[in-house]
Amino acid sequence: MYLKKIKLYNFRNYKSIQVTLTKGINIIYGQNAQGKTNLLESIYVLGLTKSHRSFIDSSLINNNGEYLTIEGIVNKNKLDDKLNIYIDSKSKILKYNDNNIKKVSDYISLMNIIIFSPDDLEIVKGSPINRRKYLDLELSQLYSNYYILMSEYNKILKLRNEYLRRINKKISVDKNYLNILTNYLIDKSIMIYKLRLKYIKKVNEICDSIYKDIMNLDDFKIVYKPSIDIDLNDLELKKILQQEYLNKLDYDIKTCMTNIGPHKDDIEFFLGDKNLKYYGSQGQQRVAILAFKLSEIEIFKKYKETTPILLLDDIFSELDDVKKNNLLKYISKNVQTIITTTDLNNLDSKLIKKSKLFHVDNGKIVKIKEVDINE
Ligand SMILES: Nc1ncnc2c1ncn2[C@@H]1O[C@H](COP(=O)(O)OP(=O)(O)OP(=O)(O)O)[C@@H](O)[C@H]1O
Ligand SMILES: [Mg+2]
Repeated sequence: MYLKKIKLYNFRNYKSIQVTLTKGINIIYGQNAQGKTNLLESIYVLGLTKSHRSFIDSSLINNNGEYLTIEGIVNKNKLDDKLNIYIDSKSKILKYNDNNIKKVSDYISLMNIIIFSPDDLEIVKGSPINRRKYLDLELSQLYSNYYILMSEYNKILKLRNEYLRRINKKISVDKNYLNILTNYLIDKSIMIYKLRLKYIKKVNEICDSIYKDIMNLDDFKIVYKPSIDIDLNDLELKKILQQEYLNKLDYDIKTCMTNIGPHKDDIEFFLGDKNLKYYGSQGQQRVAILAFKLSEIEIFKKYKETTPILLLDDIFSELDDVKKNNLLKYISKNVQTIITTTDLNNLDSKLIKKSKLFHVDNGKIVKIKEVDINE
């Protein structure tokens, strides 16, 4: 799939712009603080309804505006679809081909996006919550049911924690109600564990060879770390979980929290037996994320029969020339890619020839060059 056109009104430092992108490689260049990342962010928001760098939707609205709109024409298998988002300080409206979409789960699998951003290192180095968030986002784009499953899980988890607090404060002692919530939570947990496990397995079939191509290092893998051993059939897993919940019940009541479950999962990145979180260089960590995310393109191709849109925010500046060139081989005209850079000299001249160029200057975008015809 690819984004043909995007129209912004009051998005960050853009007052009103319209950009027509090419199906292949688009390069957005300009000095610092001109709006390069803002443009990528607007595409991300159009696809996933939320920003990758701000929790507060209203911060996306231009400082002098009351509301923002984003409109995009997405082409998938030769058909055009229109996506619209409206955000003001109180509400958000999503539209698909002019019809209102009430459920986010029905919307976020329409336009698939993979973003590479300077903050990605947090996925390796930061706390487990960053990794779970990322995992959930990718799985939600892949299976729309996953988003619903996670929302249900989080709702029951919240109820259970609230009930634990009530037992702790001796407000209520209906253990039967707690059992119902726990069993419900266990059923959802099993589904989440299995989907996450399946997904990481798929990633591992691909990411090792990508890591080797870019870094020339062997034996890269991603390890899924649920808080209990889940390599069992559903029935066995259910029994083990029921036992675990029972073992932890007093502790759960004491802490007013559910201490096991998919909300405690983690993933780790290994090169051989070295955990990259503790032993990896910055470049090795960066490429771990690149390999992880590039694997997803293949997964999308295979399971959704389309390619996602790649957003690459300033990722070349950190890598040495050899790694940069290796990475460039993965950027093909067959996957729509939107690259930002402060300096075109950071990029290979062959890549520039193949690309459509845009210059960003203080919230205005000027097309500089179409893709060279003989490319
Ligand atoms: N809600 C907003 N309203 C108006 N301007 C905003 C808003 N949010 C951010 N900006 C402005 O957008 C600009 C930053 O844009 P952006 O992050 O896209 O820069 P960039 O071109 O990617 O720069 P760099 O090369 O440093 O990454 C800043 O000048 C910032 O003040
Ligand atoms: Mg930027």
